Amino acid sequence: MDAATVARLKAGMRYEAERTAPPEGFPKLPVIPGGRYTDPEFLALEREHLWRRSWLFACHTDEIPEPGSFYLFTRTGSPILVVRGKDDTIRAFYNTCRHRGAPLVKECRGRVDGLVCGYHGWTYALDGRLVNLRDKRDFVGLDMSEHSLVQARCERLGNWVFVNEDPGAEPLLTHLGLIPEYLEQIQPEQVRFVDRRSYHVKCNVKVLLDAFLEVYHLKSIHQNTVDRFLDHRGTSIALWPRGHSLMLTPNRRPDWQDPGTRGMRRIETATEITLSNNPSFNFYPNLVTPVDATGNPFILFWPTGDREMDIEIVWFAPDWGDGEPDPLWETRIANFERILEEDTQFAEQIQQSVESAAFRGITLNYQERRIYHWHEELDRRIGPERIPEHLRVQPRLAEWISR
Ligand code: FES
Ligand SMILES: [Fe+2]
Repeated sequence: MDAATVARLKAGMRYEAERTAPPEGFPKLPVIPGGRYTDPEFLALEREHLWRRSWLFACHTDEIPEPGSFYLFTRTGSPILVVRGKDDTIRAFYNTCRHRGAPLVKECRGRVDGLVCGYHGWTYALDGRLVNLRDKRDFVGLDMSEHSLVQARCERLGNWVFVNEDPGAEPLLTHLGLIPEYLEQIQPEQVRFVDRRSYHVKCNVKVLLDAFLEVYHLKSIHQNTVDRFLDHRGTSIALWPRGHSLMLTPNRRPDWQDPGTRGMRRIETATEITLSNNPSFNFYPNLVTPVDATGNPFILFWPTGDREMDIEIVWFAPDWGDGEPDPLWETRIANFERILEEDTQFAEQIQQSVESAAFRGITLNYQERRIYHWHEELDRRIGPERIPEHLRVQPRLAEWISR
C-alpha cells in the first residue's frame, strides 16, 4: 500500500467523522424486499447463479501439506475434492467416479497415494487421470483418456485456496480486483493456518452476513466489546466492482492495541492503516476478513438450507517457524467467540420476523450501503430478468463504486 493510498484512506476516515449528513447526491436507498431472504424461487436462483458460480475459499495450503493430502469441500452442495498432486500442484476435482458416480474419498480430509473408487475400484492418479480399472475387457470401446475426473477451477491467493464451479469464471486474482494489492502487507504467501471451526445458526445466510457488512450496530450489541475500541462514526467504505468492498473503521485511540493480541507475533510489513484501524474486507460473496498485524480470521458464511446456515471461522497467523501456534491463540479465539455470540444473538428471531406479515423490507442508511451494494451484485449475477419484479433491488450505487 503506497503513501498516497494511506493518505487517501486516512482522509476518508476524517471526512466521515466530521460530516453531518451523507455526501451530496447520495441516494435514498429503496427497501430491500424481505422475500429475498425467504422466497424458495429466489433462493433457488441464488444457489444456481451465485453459490455455484463464485470463487469460494476452500482451504489453506497447510491443511493439505503433502502430495496426496486432500480437503473435501461440499459447501455448494457439490462434492469438490481439493488435492495436492505429486508435482505439488493443488487441483480440484469433483469427488465423482467417472464409472457410476461413487465418491473417491469419504472423509473430509486425509492423505492418499491415488484415488481409488470404493465401489468397483476404478483408480485415478492425483492429477485426475484414470489409470486403472478392473475387467477392462468387459467395457466395449472405453477410452480411458476420456474418463479423467472432472475438474473444478482451483486458484490461489498466496496460501489460500479457492474453488469455483464455473469453468468460464475469470481468474481469481482478476476477480478480486484491488484486494490482493491491499493484502500484500500481511503477506498472504507466508501466513499459516491456525484453526478452523464452524457454528450453526437458524437463519438465511444473508441475515447474518449483513451484520458483518456494517458497524452501525456496534453501540448496541457490542457496547462492552468492539464499541469500546472502534469509532463507527469514522468508518470509511470503499465499494468495489464485482460486489467486493472494504470497511475501514478507526480505533478510538491510534495507539490502542487489542489486549488479547499482546505478546503475539506481528507481521512487520503491516501498514499504519492496519495498525491504527480495523480494515475489514468482503471478498464477494461470502468471505469477510478483518485484518490485523497479528493474524486474521476468514469469516465464511455458508447456506445449509434456505433458513439455516453455518458461520465458519478460519484463523491465520504470520509464520511462527517450527512447532505449534502460539498458545495465546486459545484466548484470542475465545474472545472472538464472545463477540460472535453478540453478532448471532438476533439472527434466528430476525428470520422469524422476515417470514412474518409485519415485515415490509429492509431500510438501509448510508452507513449500511455495503449491504445494498451486496444485493445489487447478486441481481447482476442472477440476471435481473430472471428475478420476479417484486424481489429485485433497484440499482442505485453504480456511481458510488470506486474503480
Ligand atoms: S462407481 Fe467408481 S468404480 Fe464404479
Ligand atoms: Fe458485529
